[in-house]
Amino acid sequence: MCGIVAYIGNRPCHRLLIEGLKRLEYRGYDSAGIALLEPDGSGKGRIDVRKTIGRVAALTEVAKDKASSGSTLGIAHTRWATHGGVTDVNAHPHVDDTGTICLIHNGIIENYDVLKKYLIEHGRKFHTETDSEVLANLIAHLYEGDLERAVQSALREVTGAYSIAVMCVDEPDTLVCARKGSPLIVGIGSGEYIVASDGSAIVAHTAQAMTLEDYTVVRLSRDGFRTSTLDNVELTPKVMQLELELDEIELGSYEHYMLKEIYEQPDALRTCMRGRLDKNEGRVVLGGLKSFEQELVRSRRIIIAAQGTALHAGMIGEYLFEDLAKIPVEVEYASELRYRNPIIEERTVAIAVSQSGETADTLAALHEARDRGALTLGVVNVVGSTISRDTHAGVYLRVGPEIGVASTKAFTGQVAVLTMLSLWLARRRFMSTPAVQRIIEEFERIPDQIDATLKLDEQIKDITAKYIERENWLFLGRGYNYPTAMEGALKLKEISYIHAEGMPAAEMKHGPIALIDNGMPCVFIATQGAQYEKVVSNIEEVRSRGGHIIAVATEGDERIKSIAEDVIFIPDVAEPLSPLVAVVPLQLMAYHAAVLRGHDVDKPRNLAKSVTVE
Ligand code: G6P
Repeated sequence: MCGIVAYIGNRPCHRLLIEGLKRLEYRGYDSAGIALLEPDGSGKGRIDVRKTIGRVAALTEVAKDKASSGSTLGIAHTRWATHGGVTDVNAHPHVDDTGTICLIHNGIIENYDVLKKYLIEHGRKFHTETDSEVLANLIAHLYEGDLERAVQSALREVTGAYSIAVMCVDEPDTLVCARKGSPLIVGIGSGEYIVASDGSAIVAHTAQAMTLEDYTVVRLSRDGFRTSTLDNVELTPKVMQLELELDEIELGSYEHYMLKEIYEQPDALRTCMRGRLDKNEGRVVLGGLKSFEQELVRSRRIIIAAQGTALHAGMIGEYLFEDLAKIPVEVEYASELRYRNPIIEERTVAIAVSQSGETADTLAALHEARDRGALTLGVVNVVGSTISRDTHAGVYLRVGPEIGVASTKAFTGQVAVLTMLSLWLARRRFMSTPAVQRIIEEFERIPDQIDATLKLDEQIKDITAKYIERENWLFLGRGYNYPTAMEGALKLKEISYIHAEGMPAAEMKHGPIALIDNGMPCVFIATQGAQYEKVVSNIEEVRSRGGHIIAVATEGDERIKSIAEDVIFIPDVAEPLSPLVAVVPLQLMAYHAAVLRGHDVDKPRNLAKSVTVE
């Protein structure tokens, strides 16, 4: 959603804040701002706010005369608009109308209109359309000489989600932060604290950090910190080491994060699988499930809830669980599940799939399922994220940080974890040791097979270039290849803004076939598998109506070659594992389409990496 970074310590912080914002820019990038608290010589401070629509690069320009400021306390924000249009005034930081309190906010204050009305009645004036300005004014209204207490009191009145960092002109040695529902980490340096939405803005300065539970307030000064509840009960924070290396979040020699992350997939999957597959014993070892083994084995039904790319991974999970572990599965948009009054019978397991572990709808669906008695599992990438903490058990993806807004390595990581989960369950229910051993053997070859597929990059780029003027594409597949087709279409629309639809190849006949005109690109995922013959028939149907066939097919398939305009041959992979390889050409196709059309691949318009609001 939005990215926040704040600093209090002993060194001038302007540069550190701007660098931090650049790391967090993937979270939102329609406007950016920075506020520094500068001592005014009388023991108080003066707040200097700079903000602008556009990227952090634009902010750097607007705030360039502040680059030499000696200020050692500041807050900065990169925005993805929710309340109020994308304008300079609506950008953060926000200051209350008396100029006392300055804050940055990630999240949504749901009851902001009631609070605003109350504050207007008490003489406050508003200059923006944001919910965040209301919070700044509420804190200022309740301020009686103690910023920490004022923040606690204000947040007791608030419903919604927030992570905030707040400064006050009367307290130049204090930074107060708090969270509920939106992520916030406090990096602990020597005599300094760096607060940020995620570790990427912190790791260059310190690896020691504390995560805050919901409804926690932290007061930071140059001498130490105090954490407390909204009712001012002191808390003992959890201090941890950030497991993040700087090179994991740097672009290196790649032009875009998305390309880097596509190319990282073989290694990311090796790390994801490491220590979890025991071929000799035919076993899958998932430490995070240990305490709930009995419940999982006895489960009768699985519900998978997710959004976006994670939903497509979940759809592949449905095939895997039903195929391998013989257990009925329902996959659903978390946003629908949460309001559907879902029937959760006894022995239901709800799995939330999420790269960030913060997606608001996925989190809410998870809570709904948990409150109705389901055992909840998280399939999450970000360690310590809200979903990973709010589930009974789970399995991390371990694919490293994903920064490109269009999800790639997290998708293959999610599919790999769901594969391991279904094998774990299958082995404990029906599957024989040799059968598990066979799949593990194939599974361990996947990273090399992705490596081989990545070598087709130039060919994929050329094919994409041939169709780059076309505004409508279809992605079609059956069985395991159907969710892969959905994911291919999503990738293309997300970053190239080309209209694309993904669907089961057979469904095309029931309407979408009317769209097919001369030369329309139709991407078929037509690898060898149970429904291969039927897919060939679907290809013929499209061909006879003038559509151009781009096929992703199994190496050496002459039949597909003879009926398609373009073929991308991928290695022969066992059918349940085929999405892990078949999706790679589709990711590359979307990437090249976006580059050829001159779009900002890593920061596509209107999107955000992590959607922490409904
Ligand atoms: C956003 C992102 C998508 C992502 C979806 C779910 O819409 O732009 O790329 O798939 O959220 O995110 P999650 O972090 O829960 O996997």
